[in-house]
Amino acid sequence: MPNNLAVAPMAGVTDRPFRQLCRRLGAGYAVSEMVASNPQLRGTDKSRRRTDHEGEVAPIAVQIAGADPQQMADAARYNVDRGAQIIDINMGCPAKKVCNAAAGSALLANEKLVGEILDAVGAAVTVPVTLKIRTGSNPELRNAVAIARIAHAAGIAALTVHGRTRACAFVGAVEYDTIAAVKQAVAIPVIANGDIGTPEQAKAVLLHTGADAVMIGRAAQGRPWIFREIAHYLATGTHLPSPTVAEARALIAAHLADHYDFYGEPAGVRIARKHLRWYTETLAGGAQLRHEANVAITAAEQMGAVDRFFDRLLVHGDRLEYLGDQCVTGQGIDLCAAIVPISQSQSTTSIANRAGEALAA
Ligand SMILES: Cc1cc2nc3c(=O)[nH]c(=O)nc-3n(C[C@H](O)[C@H](O)[C@H](O)COP(=O)(O)O)c2cc1C
Repeated sequence: MPNNLAVAPMAGVTDRPFRQLCRRLGAGYAVSEMVASNPQLRGTDKSRRRTDHEGEVAPIAVQIAGADPQQMADAARYNVDRGAQIIDINMGCPAKKVCNAAAGSALLANEKLVGEILDAVGAAVTVPVTLKIRTGSNPELRNAVAIARIAHAAGIAALTVHGRTRACAFVGAVEYDTIAAVKQAVAIPVIANGDIGTPEQAKAVLLHTGADAVMIGRAAQGRPWIFREIAHYLATGTHLPSPTVAEARALIAAHLADHYDFYGEPAGVRIARKHLRWYTETLAGGAQLRHEANVAITAAEQMGAVDRFFDRLLVHGDRLEYLGDQCVTGQGIDLCAAIVPISQSQSTTSIANRAGEALAA
């Protein structure tokens, strides 16, 4: 990894255009949306898009999900054959669609099966295999350290830990002590994840957990430049100014163009709406843009709405000015002590609300 910042896998969000955008804006590492290991699902448009890595910058990391060791091993091989340079195993997703099949974070309750899956995948491919977990099944069964030891024994190359249990879904504060305990317990790189939304929070989590890197999900939605902001802060202790309106306009236009190209029209127009909502929900005039972008049928109409939005935004100044404030409270670590000026923050409520989409994804 060129740096210690990763964009989290997010089904329905971290498609190829978004991963490429985050990488361009300072993320050292990006993981694809999860791909089901079930071979019957390989032919679907969704699976085909999720295994399309054309033009992606190395390392190309593909996340696979499933509960059957042999199927997971086959899925790993299948994805390596299609360009994956790292295979990431999903044991962190609480979504019903995944957990009904006892995959995702449901696997954490079955340590024997966890070991079998990791061994089978590790034996199937020669590329590095990584694992993404939660801290356990529920607050009474926080077995992340035991899982980490199994992962270490299986030769897992890096471990991402989201500081919530499966039962916590996306509710309540992230807990970083278990991530610190995992880092102490195993000699493999650990990536800390959960509720990191500002440069100060990234630094605080790195210090508190001793983790090697941080992974950022929802805070990157609508703000892919957060990676360069964090990288700059970690290197200098000072803040980068927010992007200029002109730069944001160019970045969003390029993102939309990639998006239309990747999904085609009209699916691209439809799927772009959520990105436009995230880009603009804490910017003046965002409501009008969202209305116009939501009724747009063609890419040209949607881009026209974006152009009008930025013309109006320029009246408020040359740089993006975020409205609202941010305060995320993590257990055992005072993230609020690291509060940042309004001009550099995003609304916590809006970021937290994005979790619902994870459960629906
Ligand atoms: C919309 C959405 C989709 C997600 N999809 C996945 C996924 O496919 N695989 C996975 O391991 N985690 C998934 N997650 C969990 C994130 O990778 C991450 O662990 C979680 O959002 C906490 O990080 P954050 O607070 O920085 O958002 C998803 C989260 C969201 C919000």
